[in-house]
Amino acid sequence: QSLASTSVLSSLSFFPELTCSRPHDRLLSYWEDSWRGESKKLGDTASYTCRSGYKRKDGVTRATCTRDGWEPNPLCQEIPPCGTPPPLEDGDTKTAMKEHYSHNETIEYMCQSYYIMEGEPYKTCLYGEWTGHMRCLRPCIVNEDEMRQHNITLKSSGTKYLVHDEIIEFRCTRGLPMGNVAMRQRCNSGVLVLPTCRE
Ligand SMILES: *[C@@H]1O[C@H](CO)[C@@H](O)[C@H](O)[C@H]1NC(C)=O
Ligand SMILES: *[C@@H]1O[C@H](CO)[C@@H](O)[C@H](O)[C@H]1NC(C)=O
Repeated sequence: QSLASTSVLSSLSFFPELTCSRPHDRLLSYWEDSWRGESKKLGDTASYTCRSGYKRKDGVTRATCTRDGWEPNPLCQEIPPCGTPPPLEDGDTKTAMKEHYSHNETIEYMCQSYYIMEGEPYKTCLYGEWTGHMRCLRPCIVNEDEMRQHNITLKSSGTKYLVHDEIIEFRCTRGLPMGNVAMRQRCNSGVLVLPTCRE
């Protein structure tokens, strides 16, 4: 009993002598060298970075010399890859999709014809998650029957397909405009409000 506690005490007195030497870790891309090449003492810290594709443990910026060696252990961990990127409604990816994407990999999207993209066309795989947001805004199609019911027609002959934000102008086929819907309308993501005329 007394012998055991003596040996614990004597080993405790050695702890200040504990040092950590420069780690031989192939996943390190940078390691802060000790002053004059000396080993670091218990409680000392060292800044480091990990090779591409690997990262330090979440929230850790420096390694710490502990009784059990350098913490965190391991110093670097693999950055998780991303799976197949999410599909885009009314659009697609420019290149064929893969099953796995590595950290920092980017994929470009495009919209179907007549659809207008809102946002940047890229999604990026960051730490296992896809970031970046875009959507495809719908075109408007001018319907002859609907125009007839509203007693209107196109002011100038032109395409009946409008892309998002495109402006179109109507005129009355009978009577005068009524209500407060203007004769000039803007296509808003597939929605086009028709004015009405009446005698
Ligand atoms: C991600 O890519 C950017 C440039 O595209 C680069 O600056 C950065 O260091 C990369 N990050 C990682 C962890 O690979
Ligand atoms: C179109 O014009 C006719 C004749 O003035 C009218 O009876 C009808 O209500 C009009 N249509 C609409 C949708 O107002």
